[in-house]
Amino acid sequence: MAEQMLSDITEGCRLPVLRRNQQNEEEWPLAEILGIKEQNGRKQYYVHYVDFNKRLDEWVMYERLNVRRMQIPRKDAKTPTKNGSGSCSRPGSPDREMVVCPRPFLHNPSSQNGGSRRPLVSTVGRKRKALSMPMDEDSQDSSDSVPAVPLPRQTGSLVCDKSHDDIVTRMKNIECIELGRHRLKPWYFSPYPQELTSLPVLYLCEFCLKYFKSLKCLQRHMHKCSLRHPPGNEIYRKNHISFFEIDGRKNKNYSQNLCLLAKCFLDHKTLYYDTDPFLFYIMTTYDCKGFHIVGYFSKEKESTEDYNVACILTLPPYQRKGYGTLLIEFSYELSKVEIKTGTPEKPLSDLGLLSYRSYWSQTILEILIDLKSENGDRPQVTINEISEMTSIKKEDVISTLQHLSLINYYKGQYILNLSQEIIEGHQKAMAKRELRIDSKCLHFSPKDWSKRGKW
Ligand code: ACO
Ligand code: ZN
Repeated sequence: MAEQMLSDITEGCRLPVLRRNQQNEEEWPLAEILGIKEQNGRKQYYVHYVDFNKRLDEWVMYERLNVRRMQIPRKDAKTPTKNGSGSCSRPGSPDREMVVCPRPFLHNPSSQNGGSRRPLVSTVGRKRKALSMPMDEDSQDSSDSVPAVPLPRQTGSLVCDKSHDDIVTRMKNIECIELGRHRLKPWYFSPYPQELTSLPVLYLCEFCLKYFKSLKCLQRHMHKCSLRHPPGNEIYRKNHISFFEIDGRKNKNYSQNLCLLAKCFLDHKTLYYDTDPFLFYIMTTYDCKGFHIVGYFSKEKESTEDYNVACILTLPPYQRKGYGTLLIEFSYELSKVEIKTGTPEKPLSDLGLLSYRSYWSQTILEILIDLKSENGDRPQVTINEISEMTSIKKEDVISTLQHLSLINYYKGQYILNLSQEIIEGHQKAMAKRELRIDSKCLHFSPKDWSKRGKW
């Protein structure tokens, strides 16, 4: 290896990097060097694959770099644009633009540790009061206390993704999280205390989500922690699945710890310091040891834009098993009880869009296929009726029908053509969908938050 070559590799360089795809085949996609570190006398390079989602970013050794095809950033290169143009860019694949989930927040170090109170740092996209944090109701022990990483306060519009320009936040910082019987590999940065980022494993109490630097500390905590389910009210139970409703104001510690964990898998653009305006719906599976968190979604207590979900997440060990669809179905069941239509907060992540499209398609097709004709005429239904029956916002109904290429304009009216292929595809998908929400098991009465002086 030429010494010169090695020292030429700097942040901002782009070059093909060896990786294995989902089929376990070798490929050499173009990647950008975002960071360099030395471990045991050997250099490692943090790479972002240009056309791939940021969750695939990783540390690699020199052997995986094709330095012969390296593009070195021009010295006069301008500050990169958001979509990654400019030779010395931050991760900027088009994909990345989609995978931005709203609703993040930075942790208030004191809330876990009972130490001095600092306001949560935020990259607030819309104006909220700059609150100083009230005392938490569920004070926790202060042993093993570690302050959360202080990030610069940022402001900006909802689409402004400034936190990613920050050198601290653009690389994943947690190697591994142990949560109950699972080990999770984070996809994105999360503002856990800096001291904890160098650990091989971060230990979380799977019930209160408090974090610890060692297994010993966690075990000590487990003797004291009496929780065996998320705090809040259990508002749904069927078989082994339960949902708990958590008020971000009443259960601040839990909500903040949940957001810290969720941030590992949600590539946010906005960081909220304040969980008060949100409700959190935690989905769990039950066994003799307790109610284990599978996923959650958050929801604004009041939304002027009809959002019925702010952030939604299935923890990686449970993904692709139908739980995401179940969370989505549950969010619409809540909207049905509220007699409202709703939509997830935009923009959706790539996986969020796939999951919502799949849910919307199945739900709308179910209605269309079940339509009965009267007097031998073609069955009729309006977009409004579909929207009212499903609580799916009108715009999402229309976009789904368009996505499925079902709408045709014929002789002055819109006709929906359901091909046999579509019907069969739908029946196959529904047969696979074993987990369903049973509205009879939901015990939920919506609150009118606008009538309350304070959330
Ligand atoms: N690749 C391809 N299709 C996928 C994938 C994937 N990795 N993940 C989900 N889908 C699609 C599929 O059509 C799938 O149905 P199928 O398995 O029958 O083909 C459908 O989405 C739903 O799959 P589920 O198993 O029900 O969903 P899952 O439990 O995996 O959860 C979720 C989906 C919540 C989006 C999960 O991937 C996740 O937590 N991702 C990280 C966080 C995130 O991106 N959240 C959404 C942000 S947008 C927002 O918060 C409003
Ligand atoms: Zn605990």
